[in-house]
Amino acid sequence: MDSYSSNDISAVVEADRAHVWHHLSQHKPYETVDPRVIIEGKGMRVWDARGKEHLDAVSGGVWTVNVGYGRESIANAVRDQLIKMNYFAGAAGSVPGARFAQRLIEKMPGLSRVYYSNSGSEANEKVYKMVRQIAHKHHGGRKWKILYRERDYHGTTIGTLATSGQAQRAAQYGPYPDGFVMVPHCLEYRKQWDVENYGLRAAEAIEEVILREGPDTVGCLVLEPVTAGGGVIVPPAGYWEKVQEICAKYDILLHIDEVVCGVGRTGTWFGYQHYGIKPDFVTMAKGVASGYAAISCTVTTEAVFELFKDDPTDTMSYFRDISTFGGCTAGPAAALENMRIIEDEGLLDNTTAMGARLMGNLRALMDKHAVIGDVRGKGLFCGAELVADRGSKEALDEKRVQAVVADCMAQGVIIGATNRSVPGLNNTLCLSPALIATPDDIDQITDAIDQALTRVCG
Ligand SMILES: Cc1ncc(COP(=O)(O)O)c(C=O)c1O
Repeated sequence: MDSYSSNDISAVVEADRAHVWHHLSQHKPYETVDPRVIIEGKGMRVWDARGKEHLDAVSGGVWTVNVGYGRESIANAVRDQLIKMNYFAGAAGSVPGARFAQRLIEKMPGLSRVYYSNSGSEANEKVYKMVRQIAHKHHGGRKWKILYRERDYHGTTIGTLATSGQAQRAAQYGPYPDGFVMVPHCLEYRKQWDVENYGLRAAEAIEEVILREGPDTVGCLVLEPVTAGGGVIVPPAGYWEKVQEICAKYDILLHIDEVVCGVGRTGTWFGYQHYGIKPDFVTMAKGVASGYAAISCTVTTEAVFELFKDDPTDTMSYFRDISTFGGCTAGPAAALENMRIIEDEGLLDNTTAMGARLMGNLRALMDKHAVIGDVRGKGLFCGAELVADRGSKEALDEKRVQAVVADCMAQGVIIGATNRSVPGLNNTLCLSPALIATPDDIDQITDAIDQALTRVCG
């Protein structure tokens, strides 16, 4: 960290304090303490404005930088592409756009079409628009409702917030458009039914909503393969099989939101691939180019695609949508190199191995810290739910959860926690280190949590 002088850095911090409105932040404290500014990153580590080194256990805060920081090969691929051809509107194709679509589809049997845009929210809204247009054109206006699940999150726009299963994300930004209907969450630790086969029961709860709404009104069901910001929820055994069956039974399109899980995070290319399901739509964003460029993809089947070209005489029947920056070539250029790195460095296997180590370490901490009520995860995507009492499962007070995060930060390890998500249940520590993590990195993360829990929770 030697390329900036301390005067430069102080000026940056002051400019930030004076003019930048940070995401998801209450700014009052920044009147007296410095806002956090990250200056540099390499591998798993970042350096802040004071020169302090941190091990990043959350891949850029929000499970994004899957291949780690400072990848010159991605920067070079983007640079070369920008000089050759930086942008043209997405009504035309581009060299990296075509190549990346082909490489992506190789990893997604059963799917065949890629629609580019530039954020996870936008990728999801594209699906909602497609579903609405299919309803208009092919179902006489019926099948227009979109079901989403309690505790899932699909984005920040008004349309995607209408499918927020996290009340605190959606609160105060309504009213929301009609036709978005919530189904119950599937977290067995916070049981809603006292049954043996919880996965089956949680899926049947979706069917109950479909029957209540009327199957001929429901066009699509959107689910995260593993719920991220809603508490790192891995669906119980039997859930996905039943969900697939229900969607087929009622002719409902299945949309899997892979914005977090996509491109390696859980140890497979996509989270849904653990469960043998066949989605009609898959959306992805964060890990697609590991944050080296903005890119998101809405991927669908040839059958869905056909519905938008089967009536060329109707001038309104094709997908009349554009995303200006979906035509930026930096995104697919970065995504191609990102995918090459994951393959050549064997990062899917590393994710599975290091994920097992992380889960093992967290489970071992449960013996020592009664405050850990539950540990959940898949690959390098793990959560530890903190409780005041294991018997009653009363959530640990949010301030103490945040104190654990702050203690880790003071130790130089950045971890996350569910935040302004589910009222009264913002109590899950979130871990999503880059897919390049080593055993030492994993142990450093869990050692920091161990020490933090000892200090904060006794
Ligand atoms: C599962 C999921 N879907 C969609 C989004 C929205 O993505 P973006 O912030 O890129 O719009 C997020 C963001 O955290 C997410 O976690």
